[in-house]
Amino acid sequence: MKKVRKAVIPVAGLGTRFLPATKAMPKEMLTVVDRPVVQYAVDEAREAGIEHIVFVTGRNKHVIEDHFDIQPELIDTLTRAGKTSALAAIEELQLDAGRVSFTRQQSPHGLGHAVWCARDLIGDEPFALLLPDMVSFGVRGCLATAMQLYREAGGNVVSVEQCNPLETDKYGIVGKGGPVADGFAITEMVEKPEPSQAPSNYYINGRYILQPEIFGLLETQERGAGGEIQLTDAMARLARVQPFHAAPFTGRMFDTGSKAGFIEANVAMALAREDLRDLVLGPIAELVAAHAGAAARINRSA
Ligand code: G1P
Repeated sequence: MKKVRKAVIPVAGLGTRFLPATKAMPKEMLTVVDRPVVQYAVDEAREAGIEHIVFVTGRNKHVIEDHFDIQPELIDTLTRAGKTSALAAIEELQLDAGRVSFTRQQSPHGLGHAVWCARDLIGDEPFALLLPDMVSFGVRGCLATAMQLYREAGGNVVSVEQCNPLETDKYGIVGKGGPVADGFAITEMVEKPEPSQAPSNYYINGRYILQPEIFGLLETQERGAGGEIQLTDAMARLARVQPFHAAPFTGRMFDTGSKAGFIEANVAMALAREDLRDLVLGPIAELVAAHAGAAARINRSA
């Protein structure tokens, strides 16, 4: 079984749901507390043992490259000022020289096309894929959980969670087969099925370990849901000849690509941080209580 050394992080999306914030700034640079969304994906990849990150970028995304680069003037200034914790916060960002690559998806044809754009940089080895909109909190990272199942069972691994059965049309959905180590065999994969057509409520939560044969299939993949080249459709074809396993994630995943998920992630992360919890808990509780009181008054007068 080949080791998974590289991870693809697609960051080419336009971020139209967050306009005007994303007019000039990439949506992946919006912050959850004090870290850009994309940094959580990079941290999760490193925690899972990934050595090389391949970003699939697009126009207006150069800030992401700068974020992970060294900034000598800033380091000098912080060093002279003795700001050690700020220094540590930027030093941990630095990726190993020669172990980060950037390639461009020149036009937006969907996730499958974005992944295909990384084919030459990945070559003939299994790789991880992290969709950075999905930010995970857990004792063990989501990709590390998928990696564990890969080490035990090989093949291709998709991280899953259960969603509201009425919301299957928001995600890629997998069919549940028999147990495999701590996960289960995948019987089928469908992109954004109507609830009545969904094989289960296990949704693909944005973390994958894929064999390189996916690239040949993506090359000929026809457009699917939403008129886009869908990764899930190519995975369904690969599943005819290679095993696919599902790794259920037991932590918490936030979809920061939606406004509600983004706000929830910020609150959850602030409450999880020892340096912030006591500062934000009281004000948040007061705001919630004030709204609950207003809602109760509206209900009484109705
Ligand atoms: C993509 C995938 C989908 C997956 C989802 C997770 O959809 O195509 O299978 O469930 O990410 O966030 P998108 O969110 O790009 O529509």
